[in-house]
Amino acid sequence: MLLNLCLFFLLSTAISITAQAIGVNWGTNSSHPLPPDKVVELLKSNKITKVKLFDANPLVLQALSGSNIGVTVGIPNSMLKSLNSSTKVAESWVHDNVTRYVSSGSSGVRIEYVAIGDEPFQQSYGEQYHPFVIGTAMNIQTALARVSLANQVKVVVPCSYDSFQSESGLPSKGHFRLDLNKTMIELLTFLSKHHSPFFVTISPFIIFHQNKNISLDFSLFKETKHSRNDGHKTYKNSFDLGYDTLVTALSTVGFPQMDIVVASIGWPTDGATNATSSTAETFMKGLVVHLRSKSGTPLRPRNPPLETYILSLLDEDQRSLVTGNFERHWGVFTFDGQAKYNVDLGQGSKNLANAQYVEYLSSKWCVVNNNKDLSNATASALDACSSADCTALSPGGSCFNISWPANISYAFNNYYQLHDQSADSCDFGGLGLITTVDPSVGNCRFRLELRTSHSESLYGTYLFKWMISLTLNTIIHNFM
Ligand SMILES: *[C@@H]1O[C@H](CO)[C@@H](O)[C@H](O)[C@H]1NC(C)=O
Ligand SMILES: *[C@@H]1O[C@H](CO)[C@@H](O)[C@H](O)[C@H]1NC(C)=O
Ligand SMILES: *[C@@H]1O[C@H](CO)[C@@H](O)[C@H](O)[C@H]1NC(C)=O
Ligand SMILES: *[C@@H]1O[C@H](CO)[C@@H](O)[C@H](O)[C@H]1NC(C)=O
Ligand SMILES: *[C@@H]1O[C@H](CO)[C@@H](O)[C@H](O)[C@H]1NC(C)=O
Ligand SMILES: *[C@@H]1O[C@H](CO)[C@@H](O)[C@H](O)[C@H]1NC(C)=O
Ligand SMILES: *[C@@H]1O[C@H](CO)[C@@H](O)[C@H](O)[C@H]1NC(C)=O
Ligand SMILES: *[C@@H]1O[C@H](CO)[C@@H](O)[C@H](O)[C@H]1NC(C)=O
Ligand SMILES: *[C@@H]1O[C@H](CO)[C@@H](O)[C@H](O)[C@H]1NC(C)=O
Repeated sequence: MLLNLCLFFLLSTAISITAQAIGVNWGTNSSHPLPPDKVVELLKSNKITKVKLFDANPLVLQALSGSNIGVTVGIPNSMLKSLNSSTKVAESWVHDNVTRYVSSGSSGVRIEYVAIGDEPFQQSYGEQYHPFVIGTAMNIQTALARVSLANQVKVVVPCSYDSFQSESGLPSKGHFRLDLNKTMIELLTFLSKHHSPFFVTISPFIIFHQNKNISLDFSLFKETKHSRNDGHKTYKNSFDLGYDTLVTALSTVGFPQMDIVVASIGWPTDGATNATSSTAETFMKGLVVHLRSKSGTPLRPRNPPLETYILSLLDEDQRSLVTGNFERHWGVFTFDGQAKYNVDLGQGSKNLANAQYVEYLSSKWCVVNNNKDLSNATASALDACSSADCTALSPGGSCFNISWPANISYAFNNYYQLHDQSADSCDFGGLGLITTVDPSVGNCRFRLELRTSHSESLYGTYLFKWMISLTLNTIIHNFM
């Protein structure tokens, strides 16, 4: 009895130590991703101890091995169907993407969670992935148990910000989206059986963006006279409002104690009004202070989320724009690993450290040739923007205000950089001109892309050698 009590206290201290853990989402939907070893250096130099991935990219996991950083690996939505229907496929997924990394102990990867899909319940997906989620979760769980990893690696399902709601805007009226209520009960039953937390996105930015009723100050954790009353509870910020809406939704279906991990939360810096570095800094500092204070929310006082993952570490120029042009600008750091503002992600009161020894393509940009007839230039620019990232040109964006034809140059240049500065990608029917003078104006930065493609074959060799050494490690490990 006494022993049990001691254990209980030990466990609860362990939990409260991790209670304010802050991690980051590391997505790689980029045309020229920052090399994984540089990203891991960036994480280490800023003392970031947890990272959530959207897949199980071997190069990324290789770079994380031996780092002791807690890792969430993800299963892409496109794989859910086959993983639901076959336990064999699930076993091979776990073997290839989990077991081989964790089995090498401290020189391996500290995988803590497997995330089933990337927000598979997003309303915009309809029924595309939804029917396969629970089956996949069960199959992966079984596969993990079979290799004795079920206690170490938890199966979770990242739920989108639109999987729960409250029509009146009041947390006490929160509920899961009606088309999900059956699935949610299955999911919560599964999670609680295996002591896994509920992963969810809270998005004060998107709520603000879509809802004229929510003020900017309320979204940014600024003390405001517009706090909201819900019965006897008073809400001073949008985060608490969203979080408690979820808490009510969980209680309503019978899981009032379910642990919550905020799997994704952030504020973008471009591509929409009020998406700037300075608003993002205010939001993030407010969020971090709130989490570290451990004050919790009105419905869960002194019981903050178990963990919180910032969206995102880096900007990604190939993210889908379905929710908005801001999607490619969630990074605390730019695509090349330079801090946009300061916030304490673990490094304390020091400024955030930037990525080091970043390699760029040569100092060359593509602009429009002003000596030509530019009557057709807009069409060429729009064409360029169908593959290159032009989201900074959208209303409220950092390049919205640069005048014509500088905006044409901006589009031309991003296309040119996307194609590794190949000469023919600055042609545009004779309208393009290569320059060595940086055409950036004010806040509108004309990008120089990262040098990555040339090093790919080199990576292949490293990867191969490393895989062999891992396999050997596994074999040795299994025989000891
Ligand atoms: C994970 O394992 C599967 C099955 O072996 C494999 O096809 C896949 O490429 C691996 N990586 C990712 C990112 O899913
Ligand atoms: C998921 O897999 C199970 C087991 O193979 C199968 O019975 C079920 O029909 C699958 N679900 C869907 C929606 O295909
Ligand atoms: C909008 O705000 C008003 C006043 O704060 C409130 O009465 C109303 O319910 C809100 N509506 C929504 C949809 O949030
Ligand atoms: C789930 O939603 C449906 C409507 O889509 C409703 O008829 C049903 O009662 C709900 N079930 C629960 C348990 O809330
Ligand atoms: C938010 O955007 C509005 C409209 O562009 C602007 O008037 C306001 O100053 C912005 N606020 C902040 C804090 O950036
Ligand atoms: C990232 O890219 C993958 C494949 O390239 C795609 O399936 C996924 O939807 C993308 N995610 C986002 C957020 O754009
Ligand atoms: C503009 O495009 C039209 C249609 O493609 C073409 O006929 C015309 O010659 C072009 N003008 C210039 C100046 O290139
Ligand atoms: C755009 O430029 C005008 C005048 O140059 C300025 O008043 C306005 O604030 C600028 N807007 C943005 C979003 O930068
Ligand atoms: C550039 O600016 C002009 C004038 O404001 C506008 O008509 C055109 O659509 C813009 N082009 C792009 C690619 O944003």
